[in-house]
Amino acid sequence: MTSMRAAVERDRPIGVFDSGFGGLTVVNALRQRVPNESVLYFGDTARVPYGSKSPANVRRFSREAAQFLLSRDAKLIVVACNTATAHAAAELAAELTVPVVGVIEPGATAAVAATRSGRIGVLGTAGTIGSGAYDLAVRRRLGEPGRVYAQPCPLFVPLVEEGWTDHAVTMRVAEEYLRPLKEVDVDVIILGCTHYPLLSPLLQEVMGPDVTLVDSAEETARAVEGILSELGLERSADTPPSFTFFVSDSPHRFREVGRRFVGDLIGAVSHVDIDGFGQHMQRLASP
Ligand code: DGL
Repeated sequence: MTSMRAAVERDRPIGVFDSGFGGLTVVNALRQRVPNESVLYFGDTARVPYGSKSPANVRRFSREAAQFLLSRDAKLIVVACNTATAHAAAELAAELTVPVVGVIEPGATAAVAATRSGRIGVLGTAGTIGSGAYDLAVRRRLGEPGRVYAQPCPLFVPLVEEGWTDHAVTMRVAEEYLRPLKEVDVDVIILGCTHYPLLSPLLQEVMGPDVTLVDSAEETARAVEGILSELGLERSADTPPSFTFFVSDSPHRFREVGRRFVGDLIGAVSHVDIDGFGQHMQRLASP
């Protein structure tokens, strides 16, 4: 009986949420690293982008997304969005009864392991960079005399969603954003946004082969693997894992753009009304 319950616990999906499509890069990384796990994904496409929103709003959106994933039995929650991690992951980890994994701490660990010079660049949305969360996470690990150079890159998200990952305009924008990091001679750059791994070849070309690009998605998947194994939560079923997608705006557009991120993995996509999600449940639960 107890072991049957343990199997049911372990066989619940990993919940992943993001402001939209970008978290699919984390789903891809999870498929590589923990291929037997089922994934339940929520993309807040009605309220994207998070990168330019206030911390208070991003925290509210994140709490609603997490409540939704929990209502569908997620065993662990991955905050795939860097901006949501920056503003809300610590709070969610303190509030929720399941493990919460953000993308910033794993990215910072990998960057510090990769640097030789101690000069690390971070790229992200205005919200992520403004929060100073990567700065703090890297500095905490790096110590003196390491240096972190943070660069907001707000134009990258729309360029990726347009499919311009290998385009002269994107190259020009990247040269402009990366110039300050080249000038200070960073040897590692953290791709601190869900969309940036799709720009890796172009960014590598701009920075040259001696600079290491750290993909937070890969490092996050590695952290998830560690937590599942530590807590005995690895899926035990030998049937193929399921991938289920929910969005707060049009499922049709998500399917279209999502293919750029994960190919044919996206099958059925359902709509969920996320505004105020969870408040309703709390009201019902209170006397
Ligand atoms: N998912 C966001 C991030 O990783 C990028 C898109 C947005 O601004 O919402 O920061």
